[in-house]
Amino acid sequence: MRTRSPKVDRSEPLPLTSTSGSSVPAMTTALVTGANRGLGRHFAAELVARGATVYAGARRPEAIDVPGVRPIALDITDPDAVAAAAALAGDVDLLVNNAGISTGAQLLGDLEGVRAELDVNFWGTLAMVRAFAPVLAANGGGTVVNIASALSWFAAPGAGAYAVSKAANWNMSNALRLELAEQGTQVTSVHLGLADTDMVRALQGPKTDPAVVVRRTLDAVEAGDLEVVVDEWSATVKASLAEDPRTFYARYLAA
Ligand SMILES: NC(=O)c1ccc[n+]([C@@H]2O[C@H](COP(=O)([O-])OP(=O)(O)OC[C@H]3O[C@@H](n4cnc5c(N)ncnc54)[C@H](OP(=O)(O)O)[C@@H]3O)[C@@H](O)[C@H]2O)c1
Repeated sequence: MRTRSPKVDRSEPLPLTSTSGSSVPAMTTALVTGANRGLGRHFAAELVARGATVYAGARRPEAIDVPGVRPIALDITDPDAVAAAAALAGDVDLLVNNAGISTGAQLLGDLEGVRAELDVNFWGTLAMVRAFAPVLAANGGGTVVNIASALSWFAAPGAGAYAVSKAANWNMSNALRLELAEQGTQVTSVHLGLADTDMVRALQGPKTDPAVVVRRTLDAVEAGDLEVVVDEWSATVKASLAEDPRTFYARYLAA
């Protein structure tokens, strides 16, 4: 069956950045998911340092140790908790969807593991955007930051479900950017290889300091960038998409 392309008025560029024309203000009100450890903890701390009011979401809010934040109980896979967070944090203009899991689930292994990865990295993240879209609109448009991965753009042995979930996360950002353009919401997708957190504790290889990931991301958000390619590995993987997959995977698997 052939589908018809929607009619697009090409005389006007799509409004892909905030229609206010300004970058994310230095003083903002942010909500960070998974703020109790890893990258999320660094996001919360750096945002406080940059003068933001910060809601720090965590499944166990008692585990949050960043001074100056407002801790909130938030499991992003719990619809009631997500709705409660949006009701409580009605002044948010920067949503940092950082919470994520990596279980090692394989696509041909236990399906529950595959679903769990998608539940957090895709469905939970989407639930947050759906709940906060009206909040962002009411606060002038604002910004959504989705923490994806270099694995949005390739698959690694032992990370099949994670790679699928992060590919979905990436293209979710592309689609949301279009759907939220009317209300002036910037959507920024963040791609990184390894950062030095619990998630990749068992893996070998160069790991970026989480503080560097966070600074690069927030600088890019303030500059109005729609995509943050944090490290060289992510840039290499992205460039490889123009190649025949055989070329990339032969090189990658031999390394
Ligand atoms: N580290 C890397 O190399 C790397 C590379 C690429 C992308 N990323 C992405 O970066 C983000 C942060 O990862 P990280 O490295 O900081 O990992 P991490 O140290 O394992 O932290 C993950 C955070 O997500 C939270 N979380 C997990 N499931 C949740 C849920 N259902 N609701 C709310 N919070 C939940 C965890 O809370 P609990 O403490 O309650 O478990 C924890 O705070 C993730 O999206 C990850 O996929 C990381």
